[in-house]
Amino acid sequence: MSKFPRKSSLHAMIVIGLSLPIFLGMTGTTGCPVVPPPDDGGGGGGGGVTPGDSGVTGKFKGASVCMQCHSNIHTDWVGTLHSKALETLEAIGQGTNANCLGCHTVGFGEEGGYVDRATTNSLAGVQCENCHGGAAEHAMNASDESLRPKVSIMADVCGQCHTGENHPNFEDWGMSKHAAVEPELVPAFAAGTAGRLNTCGKCHSGDFFYRSILKGETVPDNALAGLASEQMAGITCAICHNPHAKTGNAATPEDGRDYQLRFPQIAFTTPTTDLTMAQDRTRFNLCGQCHHTRDRVWTDSSREPHPSDQANVFFGEIPSPAMFPDPIVPPRASVHLNAAEQCSTCHVARKPIVEGVAPAVSGHTFEVTYIGCVQCHGSEEAAESKLNGLKAEIDVRLALVEEALEAWSARPAQVTWCGALAAATGCASVEHCWEFTSECGPKNDAGGQGKIPNNIKKARYILYYVREGGGSGAHNPDFVREALMIAEELALTAPDVP
Ligand code: HEC
Ligand code: HEC
Ligand code: HEC
Ligand code: HEC
Ligand code: HEC
Ligand code: HEC
Ligand code: HEC
Ligand code: HEC
Ligand code: HEC
Repeated sequence: MSKFPRKSSLHAMIVIGLSLPIFLGMTGTTGCPVVPPPDDGGGGGGGGVTPGDSGVTGKFKGASVCMQCHSNIHTDWVGTLHSKALETLEAIGQGTNANCLGCHTVGFGEEGGYVDRATTNSLAGVQCENCHGGAAEHAMNASDESLRPKVSIMADVCGQCHTGENHPNFEDWGMSKHAAVEPELVPAFAAGTAGRLNTCGKCHSGDFFYRSILKGETVPDNALAGLASEQMAGITCAICHNPHAKTGNAATPEDGRDYQLRFPQIAFTTPTTDLTMAQDRTRFNLCGQCHHTRDRVWTDSSREPHPSDQANVFFGEIPSPAMFPDPIVPPRASVHLNAAEQCSTCHVARKPIVEGVAPAVSGHTFEVTYIGCVQCHGSEEAAESKLNGLKAEIDVRLALVEEALEAWSARPAQVTWCGALAAATGCASVEHCWEFTSECGPKNDAGGQGKIPNNIKKARYILYYVREGGGSGAHNPDFVREALMIAEELALTAPDVP
């Protein structure tokens, strides 16, 4: 990109702007103008007036000026619907409706902001300065670092407009777990604890994800030191969406739309038992960038698998340790693998508002709605009752595995062994003798976890793996079913501790 403005063209633009007649059909810039009747829908402001920029004299410059130096971003942005947001209003005769312009132009109602096509044409549409703030001073003094516009990945940037009853994406997102950094991790990020941000931040910190994964920077563990929870970015809009460009990553966008997703909405991969591959985010779709397993296999004694293995369950894979490479559950792809938008089919399904009847569903709580099930299951009710049936079945199967594990713990050999350990380690009883150390099972020493037979280790691992990642079975019904049957059998046939 050129770092310097081509002064001649900037100058030319201003001169052209001034030489144009001012369109008089609109009221002023007070922020509460009278609602005018719909215009004629013409992109030129109506009445045969040629658009101009005599009014562009304040803090906003308009994207065509930014283009001088940020030409790549500008080219991308031109292709997005943001750049055409005023045309969208004009196409339905609302191009001069003051109730609409605030979110479809730059700075409408503010001093120096959009007024009309005739005087402020270059501020039409959603532009750079809607998200970065007025940047006129920066554009004139590009080398002055103190005047650089803000770059923020926080959701309130988008929440200025993606709000309200027609498209409550911001409010809905705000209710989701993506909106805030996991409370357990905030203290470590705020303290800059070594190893935390670079390990856990890959999935739990929007700031880290943006700088490290999206921009390829080296980010120190203390990058968020001293910040309060609300100053830390969770999984914000700009983590899933590219703010500048169409990406072609949406599986089934509506006509003319793109959704600007950063990663492909759908991806297919061959199931693996290799741990490195099982946690390789590049194998997975947008959601699978973070919702994949990490670090643990059944031989690990200290902790259960992380509850993030949804994508792995969806593809029907479970990692194994290198020394026991056989799959503990046979790989099996989900019946839902071909859902048109994969995870988003069930988790980001949308429905427009029906005025006075039903609210808009933005899909951005990421909770399962039954809207997306209809295409295959006929109706929302049919899908819901089918899911309730599966949940009930899976709950029974989970309970059977736990019962089998407790039954193993209750056998005389384990009662003696575990009772002694329990007394020594402060665990209340021999219940959960089969558990990981982190769950107050036998302490991880030569006499403790080392004695737990492989059957039990496999069974408890499977139990956690599908309970946390299985989506009540829906992620991969037959895989989850079979996994739990295998786990029960393993626990029932487990030998006593030596
Ligand atoms: C005369 C050239 C020039 C013009 C015109 C210009 N910029 Fe910049 N802009 C720069 C330079 C140089 C930087 C610093 C780039 C860098 O650090 O790589 C920059 C940085 C930025 C940044 C990033 C700031 C940061 O902290 O990383 C934003 C956002 C930005 N410009 C927006 C705009 C907008 C919006 C406009 C139009 C109103 C605009 N620029 C017009 C030259 C320009
Ligand atoms: C000034 C208001 C405004 C702001 C700020 C804003 N948007 Fe938008 N956005 C709109 C409008 C209006 C549209 C619809 C444009 C149209 O269809 O004409 C839109 C459309 C979109 C679309 C749909 C694009 C498509 O191809 O389907 C996405 C995705 C989007 N915005 C994401 C974002 C994100 C992410 C941010 C913050 C980084 C953001 N927007 C900030 C007003 C805004
Ligand atoms: C609070 C900000 C805001 C206001 C005010 C607003 N819009 Fe929008 N409008 C948006 C956003 C954001 C989108 C993108 C919606 C999406 O894709 O989820 C949008 C999209 C649209 C679309 C594209 C159709 C669609 O849903 O994709 C039309 C048409 C539209 N708006 C018309 C209007 C009209 C007419 C008014 C005034 C009566 C208006 N808007 C007022 C923010 C606003
Ligand atoms: C819908 C909101 C939105 C619009 C419109 C928008 N930006 Fe941005 N911009 C962002 C966000 C969010 C980021 C940080 C995330 C990213 O880099 O993708 C960003 C990042 C930047 C950066 C820093 C990039 C870097 O790698 O450090 C520059 C420069 C920039 N924008 C310039 C522009 C220019 C110029 C335009 C108009 C042609 C523009 N932006 C339009 C939201 C927007
Ligand atoms: C591969 C991405 C990823 C990494 C790396 C990751 N997590 Fe998570 N974590 C997730 C996801 C996704 C969830 C949410 C799962 C759910 O709620 O279904 C989650 C949930 C959590 C939870 C709340 C759920 C619970 O167990 O009660 C905590 C606490 C947590 N992670 C801590 C950590 C810590 C500490 C680290 C670093 C040592 C870490 N995570 C690393 C993806 C990850
Ligand atoms: C975890 C990822 C994720 C986050 C975070 C996210 N989105 Fe989305 N968004 C999606 C996906 C996936 C779709 C596509 C939905 C579909 O296929 O129907 C989408 C669609 C959209 C669309 C176009 C469809 C529509 O609603 O009209 C808009 C606009 C949008 N998101 C805005 C936002 C805004 C604003 C935020 C932040 C408040 C946000 N998104 C946060 C994943 C995300
Ligand atoms: C950048 C990482 C990232 C991406 C991408 C991502 N998520 Fe998440 N998601 C998380 C983390 C981290 C949590 C858990 C936060 C916590 O527990 O504190 C989470 C939580 C959730 C939850 C709540 C789980 C619960 O226990 O209540 C759902 C549902 C969810 N994500 C679905 C999705 C879907 C669907 C997508 C894709 C459209 C997606 N996520 C993309 C990181 C991500
Ligand atoms: C792409 C098509 C498709 C979509 C979308 C879809 N399903 Fe399915 N689903 C299937 C197929 C095929 C089966 C296997 C045949 C059957 O049991 O009906 C199935 C089976 C099921 C089962 C029974 C599994 C079992 O073995 O007991 C449940 C429960 C289920 N789906 C729930 C849902 C829910 C809930 C949604 C939406 C949130 C949904 N499905 C979306 C195609 C789909
Ligand atoms: C067929 C519909 C469907 C698809 C496809 C789907 N999910 Fe789910 N998901 C569910 C259901 C149903 C639940 C359980 C909700 C409940 O019990 O209330 C769930 C639960 C979750 C949870 C909460 C923790 C858990 O596992 O119970 C997360 C996180 C999640 N899904 C992420 C994903 C991701 C990531 C994908 C894609 C790899 C995905 N889902 C694909 C239906 C689906």
